[in-house]
Amino acid sequence: MTASNLRTVYLKDYQPSAYLINRTELHFHLLEDHVIVSSRLHLLRCAASAQDASLTLNGEEMELLSVSIDGIRLAEEEYSVSAESLVIHRVPEQCVIACETRIRPQENTALSGLYKSRNLFCTQCEAEGFRRITYYLDRPDVMSVFTVTIEGDRERYPVLLSNGNLIEAQQLADGLHSAVWHDPFPKPAYLFALVAGDLEHVEDRFTTMSNREVTLRIYVEKKDIDKCGHAMRSLQQAMRWDEDIYGREYDLDIFNIVAVDDFNMGAMENKSLNIFNTSCVLCSQQTTTDLGFQRVQSIVAHEYFHNWSGNRVTCRDWFQLSLKEGFTVFRDSQFSADVGSPTVKRVEDVTLLRSLQFAEDAGPMSHPIRPESFIEINNFYTATVYEKGAEVVRMIHTLLGAESFRRGSDLYFERHDGQAVTCEDFVLAMEDASGVNLQQFRRWYSQAGTPQLNVQDEYDEHAKCYTLHVEQSCPVTPGQAKKLPFVIPLAMGLLGEAGNLPLRLRDLPADIETSDNTHRVLTVNQPKQSFVFEGVSERPVPSLLRGLSAPVRLQFEYSSQDLCALMRRDSDGFVRWDSAQTLLTRIIFEVEQQLLSGAAVVLDQLLIEACSDLLRDHSLDPAMVAEMFRLPSEDYLAEQASQAGGANVDSIHHARDWVRSALGQALAPLFLARYQGLEIQQVDAPEATQIADRSLRNMCLAYLVSANVDNLALATVQYREATNMTDRQAALKEIAFYADHKLRASTLENFHQKWRHEALVVNQWLQVQAAIPDREGLSRVKALMTHADFELGNPNKVRALVGGFVNQNLVNFHHLDGSGYRFLGDVVVKLNRLNPQLASRLLTPLTKWQRYPARGTLMRAELERLSAEPALSPDVFEVVSKSLQ
Ligand code: TRP
Ligand code: ZN
Repeated sequence: MTASNLRTVYLKDYQPSAYLINRTELHFHLLEDHVIVSSRLHLLRCAASAQDASLTLNGEEMELLSVSIDGIRLAEEEYSVSAESLVIHRVPEQCVIACETRIRPQENTALSGLYKSRNLFCTQCEAEGFRRITYYLDRPDVMSVFTVTIEGDRERYPVLLSNGNLIEAQQLADGLHSAVWHDPFPKPAYLFALVAGDLEHVEDRFTTMSNREVTLRIYVEKKDIDKCGHAMRSLQQAMRWDEDIYGREYDLDIFNIVAVDDFNMGAMENKSLNIFNTSCVLCSQQTTTDLGFQRVQSIVAHEYFHNWSGNRVTCRDWFQLSLKEGFTVFRDSQFSADVGSPTVKRVEDVTLLRSLQFAEDAGPMSHPIRPESFIEINNFYTATVYEKGAEVVRMIHTLLGAESFRRGSDLYFERHDGQAVTCEDFVLAMEDASGVNLQQFRRWYSQAGTPQLNVQDEYDEHAKCYTLHVEQSCPVTPGQAKKLPFVIPLAMGLLGEAGNLPLRLRDLPADIETSDNTHRVLTVNQPKQSFVFEGVSERPVPSLLRGLSAPVRLQFEYSSQDLCALMRRDSDGFVRWDSAQTLLTRIIFEVEQQLLSGAAVVLDQLLIEACSDLLRDHSLDPAMVAEMFRLPSEDYLAEQASQAGGANVDSIHHARDWVRSALGQALAPLFLARYQGLEIQQVDAPEATQIADRSLRNMCLAYLVSANVDNLALATVQYREATNMTDRQAALKEIAFYADHKLRASTLENFHQKWRHEALVVNQWLQVQAAIPDREGLSRVKALMTHADFELGNPNKVRALVGGFVNQNLVNFHHLDGSGYRFLGDVVVKLNRLNPQLASRLLTPLTKWQRYPARGTLMRAELERLSAEPALSPDVFEVVSKSLQ
């Protein structure tokens, strides 16, 4: 492994830039096999810096044609160019540096910088893509006012877009035209964007709180123009919500969204020109599942919210990434909770956090939400920075209360508007506005690992006293052997026979009491602590960590009866779901042991009764009932098992299947009754109640099919008669997983025939097949990689097929002959050259070798093979080398 050009960057080495770029003028000449970029950078040396300093500009993958200072072209000895920089040896205090460079977007398969997605020119500059466009101070604390001229063929590229306002458009000779865009807000280069192509748009308006009219446009390919309505409505909803909840108003007269097919992530918040993966914009009932609709809504909102949390106030350096991402994820999840069901949204977020982020924090890439070092920043767009980062902001919200939190965010935005700041600045604003001391709380920013809370209880019947003994700890993570105690908000209640009990906490001032005297948030901040409740008339079941009030693992010795009681009767919807999950997880592991030992296996009667009540109770939100029946994923079960010593994918798979099938059999009449009772009237846009009904109905279908393959008849009818993609895809999945060869093949073929012109639906088709857990799993995926509809150059397709296989088809990926690992290794080797960001992300499941005792050696061997590959990208190198440490 050659790592000669790989440098580790450290937070502690941060130095402010010696130069500012007050204004940036760019000119793009778009041609068919290359693009000429001309820049004029208005530079100013910062007072504190030395005289006659040399200047190093970042620049990669480009050809320098000329460079000049104040109009005078530099001679060759006055500068030097390397693979990653342009060094100008002597630069005056104030000057204009002009560069002319040639780049080749047509050959840019990394999808970073300026590239082509089919016939469309587009950009992705976060984190360090701008340096692939022109030589620049490519760091977020260098903020500049941009003026951008785009010149290109009128017919091929009728639409020319960049950030800010269009100030000039011209028809030129030779079939060319040009547009000039000016963005009045100083911004870091990572927020720069350019789009040129043959696009159509839909347009709508938004009137801001101070009565300014904003034009909203969504640009897509002509064929997709009727799939923009939901994204547009989501944008308007998000704009209103940010005014109502955060007092944040939009600041330009125009806001554009562009959808592109080839994109490394979901979307990007470029100032006034958000660029989206088509999968995060386009929606129709025919092609998009309800989950897809919700995803579009939350991502549109997320990118819009960045206008304040990210753009107006940005990051000083990339170690502060969670400053904008954690806060913005928190904001978008608050938004989704407000416009939908808060409990369902929380359940979804927690499921994601526990399966992805807890796993990341327990593995070799574990890092704090504010990392201290990195080799490749692209590797740090992680569940930890995003999702755990959002949990940390959520805890601040809990500790301060909504009102103080709002005062804190107001102060933060006001104090730092137009600045590039740090996580510390955010916490300080929260402290200053609320008077709450967050000194110890700051450890959440610097310590990695998922803390564990061990809770024990004690009931004194005579004194009517109930005590919770709480102990916290945090596992060792790379580079962090010792951890100091965290501040952990522990939301809780106590469940008695007749409902939740009033809480009287000893030694706490009365002013902390809330309007609901059955709910408290305890502040755990020491290694060991006890909380004593007085006047407790019976031994209660504690309802702990409500809403997952902190991103921690909870350990409490609940009996199955306790869990059932919480599941049926706690006043907190999240705890009801969580207790069901805990119980199901426990039962699956028991079944796993029984299956392994050959003992007779029976399903817990308590579970059957509790589940039967859930299905009978029509007053419950069907979406929540569906969530309570959703079995923990194999991946999550493997994560849990590894906490207890090690995971066996095969026996986990069988035990999980066994439980689903047994539960399906035990409750078959009830599942069938609900399935038939939830027939849904179709309307245009999915409404919350319909989404909820469909969710439960399809959950019933899955149990019915597991119980008895004859129930595939229901799936076949549903597949044929579905009027929306949610129902059609749910039926397809059952048929693909459980039908005989003939029915499976014909249904998949039918689906492909019907939808082969819809790229996003073809991806769903690939993903369903990637996850089929039968013996042909890997060969099916390999065959699909040669299918005409698969392209290695399109990240959505790679994620659907390869990602679907390695993340969702655990029994095949982890086949003991090592074929799954070898397959992933081969794909990563190819992608390492084409698209390193994607290669490195796909690699994640291999890094979890410590989870699987019987397979660790095989998995490491594949990592070793990768590490011996020549020309590893920094992205892949970092993940491989850290995983092998
Ligand atoms: N800032 C984007 C977001 O909203 C993340 C992102 C989009 C990104 N594209 C990227 C990060 C490419 C790294 C590379 O979350
Ligand atoms: Zn973001």
